[in-house]
Amino acid sequence: MDSDKQTIMLNLAKEAFANAYVPFSNYRVGACVEADGKLYTGCNIENASYGLSNCAERTAIFKAVSEGARTITAVAVASPNAGSMPYPCGACRQVVNEFAEPDTPIWITDCESVLETTLAKLLPHSFKLRRADVGRANPGNA
Ligand code: THU
Repeated sequence: MDSDKQTIMLNLAKEAFANAYVPFSNYRVGACVEADGKLYTGCNIENASYGLSNCAERTAIFKAVSEGARTITAVAVASPNAGSMPYPCGACRQVVNEFAEPDTPIWITDCESVLETTLAKLLPHSFKLRRADVGRANPGNA
């Protein structure tokens, strides 16, 4: 059942933030994605060169895709840094979008309450590159 899956995935996301490498922000995030029927977790990994930091969601997704998975069917995100809900950043929403459908559930917790949303709600009118559009002649360049 979906509520069982939600609990399991949020608990795994909470476990995952224990491994967050956050010497700069001290803001821990954990994520769990269901991809091709399996669960993959990730944490945020920061870097002294700040722009090289990787979010928890993308760590989990890249683990899944690098293991051969291609379809994300649920996403869970958790952070113990109370004060605000750890909504996925714009970059992570776009990366989820690459492998998920608009109605894919996204569950978020600040370790106090749980918020249930979907990819379409977080990323409306999303950009997807259709195969048919790739390499299409650009009349402007003729
Ligand atoms: N962070 C995530 O892990 N996921 C997000 O969706 C937003 C931000 C991390 C990146 C950085 O390590 C810390 O949170 C503060 O921005």
